[in-house]
Amino acid sequence: MDRLKDKIAIVSGAGGGIGSAICQRFAQEGAAIICVDINPSTLDSTIAEIIRYGGKANKLLADISEEKTAVDAVKIAIDEYGGLDILVNNAVYDIALGPLTSISLDDWRRTMDVNLNSAFLMSKHSIPEMEIRGGGSIIHIASQLGRTARPGRPWYCAQKAALINLAKAMALDHAPQKIRVNSLSPGPVETNRYLTNFSSQEEAQKTSNTLFDRLGKPDEIAAGAAFLASDDASFVTGSDLLIDGGYTVP
Ligand SMILES: NC(=O)c1ccc[n+]([C@@H]2O[C@H](COP(=O)([O-])OP(=O)(O)OC[C@H]3O[C@@H](n4cnc5c(N)ncnc54)[C@H](O)[C@@H]3O)[C@@H](O)[C@H]2O)c1
Repeated sequence: MDRLKDKIAIVSGAGGGIGSAICQRFAQEGAAIICVDINPSTLDSTIAEIIRYGGKANKLLADISEEKTAVDAVKIAIDEYGGLDILVNNAVYDIALGPLTSISLDDWRRTMDVNLNSAFLMSKHSIPEMEIRGGGSIIHIASQLGRTARPGRPWYCAQKAALINLAKAMALDHAPQKIRVNSLSPGPVETNRYLTNFSSQEEAQKTSNTLFDRLGKPDEIAAGAAFLASDDASFVTGSDLLIDGGYTVP
C-alpha cells in the first residue's frame, strides 16, 4: 500500500519498539520520516532499516522535551521535503514503579516534560506548517492505562489520560484547519521497555491481561498509526484508537 505517498512525517521516540515500527510502516507506505530520539544507537538502527529498503528518513538526535527539538524537527521537514503532514508523539520516559509518595518532584517533572509537554511543543510548532499544506494528522501515542489504571504508575496513567483528552481538545480547535487529531492507545506490547518489568518473556506473555493471552506486537500498533495518518481516516478526529487485545474489556 502507498497510502502515505509524498507525505512528510515527524515521529518522536523513533528508535523505540513501537516508534521504530511506526517509522518503518510509514516509510513502506511512501512517507518521508524525520526520526527523533535521544538514543543514538537505536535511532541509527531505525534509519538504517528504512534506508535498507529504499525509504526516506532523516535523523534528529535530540531531547524531545526541549522546544528547540520541535523547532529543529519542523525545520528539517521544511528544508528537506518542503512541508509537514503527519506528527506522531510517541516518546516515553519511565521511572521506577512505585506509588506517588515514592516519586521525587524532579522525576515527576521529567516524566511530564517527556511524556506530555513534548506533545504540546511538537504540536505547537507543527500545526502552522500543516495548515500551509491544507491539513494534516496528529497522533498522540497514549495507552490503555490512560483509560484505566494499574498500581505503581501514577505519572504514566495521569499523562496518558491527559494525552487522550488533549487530542479531543485539539481536534475541536484545529478542525477548521483540516488537521485531524487523535490518540492511539496500545495495550501491552512486546517492546524492550515493557519486557524489563518481567523476569522472562513467558511471564510477560502470561500476565498480559489481554483476551488473547499474549502481548501485542509493535507492527500491530504501527498498522493503527498508519490508518490514522492516512486518508482512510479522513472522517476520524478526536477519537482514541484502542489497540489493546481486549485488555480493557472485562
Ligand atoms: N510497550 C507497551 O506495552 C506500551 C503500552 C501502551 C502504550 N505504550 C506507548 O507507546 C509508546 C512507545 O513505547 P515503547 O514501548 O515502544 O517504548 P520504548 O522505550 O521502546 O521507546 C520509547 C523511545 O522514546 C525515546 N525517548 C525517551 N526519552 C526521550 C527524550 N527525552 N527525547 C527523545 N526521545 C526519547 C527512547 O529513547 C525510546 O527510543 C510510548 O508512548 C508508550 O507509552 C507502550
